[in-house]
Amino acid sequence: MNVGVIGLGYVGLPLAVAFAEAGHSVVAVDLAPERVARVKRGESYIEDIPSERLQRVSHRITADTAYEPLAGTDALIVCVPTPLSENREPDLQPLRAAGWSLSRILRPGQLVVLESTTFPGTTRDLLAPILEKTSGLVAGVDYPLAFSPERVDPGRTDYTLRTTPKIVGGLTEACGDAAEALYAEVCDELVRVSSPEVAELAKLHENIFRSVNIAMVNEMSMLCERMGIDIWEVVDAASTKPYGFMRFEPGPGMGGHCLPVDPFYLSWRARKFDLTTRFIELAGEVNQQMPYECANRIVRALNDVGKPVRGSIITILGVSYKAGVGDVRESPALKVIDELSGMGADIRYSDPYVPKLPALGLESQPAEVAVDDCDIAVILTAHPNIDHAALLDGAPVVVDLRGVLPRGVVRA
Ligand SMILES: NC(=O)c1ccc[n+]([C@@H]2O[C@H](COP(=O)([O-])OP(=O)(O)OC[C@H]3O[C@@H](n4cnc5c(N)ncnc54)[C@H](O)[C@@H]3O)[C@@H](O)[C@H]2O)c1
Repeated sequence: MNVGVIGLGYVGLPLAVAFAEAGHSVVAVDLAPERVARVKRGESYIEDIPSERLQRVSHRITADTAYEPLAGTDALIVCVPTPLSENREPDLQPLRAAGWSLSRILRPGQLVVLESTTFPGTTRDLLAPILEKTSGLVAGVDYPLAFSPERVDPGRTDYTLRTTPKIVGGLTEACGDAAEALYAEVCDELVRVSSPEVAELAKLHENIFRSVNIAMVNEMSMLCERMGIDIWEVVDAASTKPYGFMRFEPGPGMGGHCLPVDPFYLSWRARKFDLTTRFIELAGEVNQQMPYECANRIVRALNDVGKPVRGSIITILGVSYKAGVGDVRESPALKVIDELSGMGADIRYSDPYVPKLPALGLESQPAEVAVDDCDIAVILTAHPNIDHAALLDGAPVVVDLRGVLPRGVVRA
């Protein structure tokens, strides 16, 4: 097969590599010239794809900023971003733009699959009409169209694209069959659903489930803070129940491209159906408060040792939104840092995955250097392979927002 992948980010690049590894030719298109140049050089910018892995299949991947080379492909997989606008409403501009560009090269029989996370109805009511405009081709009649959500969890190694069941929902039976045949090349298990809308909503349901449960445990952690109870001990104890409980971890708030964004695609859409999705809004509210709550905990910990925030050296360990990745999009660390530097703190940070934070004018320092002489050290994101207990042995005050230090070590 000749497979086209549109949008070479966290979702698109691993997909392009997976199809190339399965022996297929891949046309990989992205509007960002630097990304295309790096793919051409066999240089990966996604942690989960080491450059060596990309280089092994580079001969099967043609990267381009133009859509024309996609004309000869058998399938087109759309992985462009679906962000929120400034007013926190769905911004479907990248998807519309990709649709317009595709409608100029689309030919009969070419399978189109949307992977970008979005509200139910996007594939059928938004993408299909755009694709029809210039091509004149009718979805489900002249070419197969489907939605298949990406479930990749950046940094996770126990489940891969191949071993994570892939949901597929086609506009018609034949559309679903075509999409299933495509993904069977790179996924071991396919989950066929009856429509693109079910597939679209299933993905949002998964992410909202996480968002709501994270908010719930974060609320619990705020209460524990007031009551003087160790939230981690509570979570550990509750997690011993063999059924009816699923462990979620408290933290400084949600980040990344998905959880702080996706749920609001659904709450926005729900308004059209006269429904206020209160769980989604409430979870968003609680999670958005967490960076400020955590900044307060740091202020209180300094206060306990008689230090003001102004002039204190605060060392932040880990600034990406989650462990093992360098993605700082929507990372709560940025808000915590902003809040504390607004109070006059002298902020240092160390993150092996994030060498620079240009927006804040900060550069990562080696962990030992960052911790040396600080007034307080904060574990904000606990990256793997760091012995935090040893690293923070000499730190005067430590706030552990991720529960990685052995109980009793935290001095805050
Ligand atoms: N990152 C994740 O963990 C994850 C997981 C599951 C689903 N998703 C969803 O997948 C989609 C893509 O997310 P991502 O994290 O890969 O985004 P990303 O920002 O990392 O990558 C998207 C790429 O698309 C390119 N692009 C934008 N408009 C384009 C256009 N018109 N034509 C061609 N390329 C274009 C951008 O330059 C960028 O390189 C989103 O809908 C997201 O919600 C992401």
